[in-house]
Amino acid sequence: MSKKSVNTPFEEQVFKPSKDFAKNARVSSMAQYNRMWKESVEQPAKFWASEAKELEWQKPWSKVLDWKAPDAKWFVGGKLNVTESCLDRHARGPRRNKAAIIFEGEPGDKQVLTYAQLHREVCKFTNVLIARGVKAKDRVLIYMPMIPQAAIAMLACARLGAVHSVVFGGFSAESILDRLEDCGATHVITADGGWRRGKTVALKDNVDEALSRTKIVKSVIVYKRTGQDVKMKKGRDFWWDELAAEASAKHEAKAFDSEHPLFILYTSGSTGKPKGILHTSGGYLTGTYTTCKYIFDMQDEDVYWCTADVGWITGHSYIVYGPLAMGATQVMYEGAPNYPDFSRFWQMIEEYGVSIFYTAPTAIRAFIKAGDSFVDGHDLSSLRLLGSVGEPINPEAWRWYYEKIGGSRCPIVDTWWQTETGAIMISPLPGATPTIAGTATLPFFGVDAAILDDAGNECKANEAGRLVIRKPWPSMTRTIYGDKARFKKTYWADYDGLYTAGDSARRDKKGNFWIVGRLDDVLNVSGHRLGTAEVESALVSHPSVAEAAVIGRPDDLKGQAVVCFVTVKGGIKSTPALQKELRDHVGKVIGAIAKPDNVYFAPALPKTRSGKIIRRLLKELVSTGEVSGNTTTLEDHSVIEQLKKTIADS
Ligand code: PRX
Repeated sequence: MSKKSVNTPFEEQVFKPSKDFAKNARVSSMAQYNRMWKESVEQPAKFWASEAKELEWQKPWSKVLDWKAPDAKWFVGGKLNVTESCLDRHARGPRRNKAAIIFEGEPGDKQVLTYAQLHREVCKFTNVLIARGVKAKDRVLIYMPMIPQAAIAMLACARLGAVHSVVFGGFSAESILDRLEDCGATHVITADGGWRRGKTVALKDNVDEALSRTKIVKSVIVYKRTGQDVKMKKGRDFWWDELAAEASAKHEAKAFDSEHPLFILYTSGSTGKPKGILHTSGGYLTGTYTTCKYIFDMQDEDVYWCTADVGWITGHSYIVYGPLAMGATQVMYEGAPNYPDFSRFWQMIEEYGVSIFYTAPTAIRAFIKAGDSFVDGHDLSSLRLLGSVGEPINPEAWRWYYEKIGGSRCPIVDTWWQTETGAIMISPLPGATPTIAGTATLPFFGVDAAILDDAGNECKANEAGRLVIRKPWPSMTRTIYGDKARFKKTYWADYDGLYTAGDSARRDKKGNFWIVGRLDDVLNVSGHRLGTAEVESALVSHPSVAEAAVIGRPDDLKGQAVVCFVTVKGGIKSTPALQKELRDHVGKVIGAIAKPDNVYFAPALPKTRSGKIIRRLLKELVSTGEVSGNTTTLEDHSVIEQLKKTIADS
């Protein structure tokens, strides 16, 4: 990349792809991007069909798109088995003995799975699931550490047409239960435990706790990872290895309709209940494959590493489906980035010769805080492309990533997308797009993104408004599982026929998109979505709490910190011990990522006369210590003075 001018402030400097990078890139100039983008939005069916043709289909589609907002059917009449594109075609061709997954466990154990081996393991596990009675369209809940078996379990479900729902291994028993009941999962795949910062996480115990409160699950398959003690319930629980030992490694992939459900992934919304985002087969695979091809510019000789967990959409799209459909070699890591210390990632990049590295701003900020000494001395010269995802990347983090990790040589793709969009929507193309720190730049092919004001008009340059997508795209979510009404209300009600992302954004004069943040009551904590209402309902489920209000506070490391205001029930003392108990309680109900950073005891919460909590005032109080905005709707003005004192005293 080359800088335009060294005299411009860093925040405004434009970085153009270097000639060296552009030379071998699939899209190597803005002229090419502009031409392809124009064609792709003018004739989306033509563009997406030519991409989808690069995948394996058992029966071709008769029509590319059937669209009546908000219902999309892509590749109508086409039949495929998504795992054939991800596995079979590589395993029977020249990539047969190519490494698909290079795994490193947190304790340092290593394993390489070639495409042929991964294919065999998935076939074997598909046969295991079939023998356990799993059928097409059944929902299977997966609660696993970041080990290859997590991907194998997902792919085996997909192979037989079952719908997987992965629950992040950091979530609680209660979260498992909620999701299990919402999607009606009849089978669970888990492990005894996983490694995290030198300790084991009790995955199977959490599953047991969840299952003690429901009867819908017929069987649990347990992979032995840590060897820790677990209880196995006779007739319900089975060891993965024992079942796999008896299973055949051969399985003929059956074709499913292009719109066959592939997975449900839960994400936070503005009400308490997480939404089960449903993705289907042909379109989703086309979206993840195509974005890997152009945005990560994956080439056969690349070593790619996405540090996300398979429990999030990034893991689904950019560890499992996209890279495997590309036939890429990727690194997978089980544990924490700072175990045994903050040099772990850089050691691994050096050891495996990683060339494409995809991580989150929150991790970058943690590395900056830890200090450069952890990076120094590691040979990172194999890197050629860097990616960022999950939240806006601040210029300091961008600069450090670019200079310290990328050696001022690697383009950075700042990728904007969501669980709902399935694949990256706005991002630079690394061989073409000039970038500025902090902007996700321009829409991907086929993506018609815009920023609208309340009246539905396009905002002027640099004016913030609502980010919308005006045309359907193949990897778009089809519904919220079991709640079509909520799907319509959440994403399609603001403007007729347009998808509203829930983000506020602006475009600069060159058309670059700058994401400002969420418009709803959703926090972005370390790149993870967390509903304020979810945390509030966790707090009020504690016997001492009468009422709670949760807001986000800007945080240097996590992006946003979770701040709670709690009123306790009569007779309960507001003690530091109770503060700790409430933090732990939220951690137990939702998972460690939701643990509040601050718990303030408030004698009362600021409310409107109709009883609605005014979170805006709480936000202002926390960030400035004052309230300057409109308080005319406030029912009791003395509440503000009391809260000021609470915050000042803590
Ligand atoms: O607010 C945006 C933010 O993350 C939200 C989506 O969260 P989730 O569904 O959990 O998916 C995260 C991984 C794709 C968005 O609505 N977000 C995601 N990527 C970016 C971002 N904000 C700014 N810049 C990004 N690159």
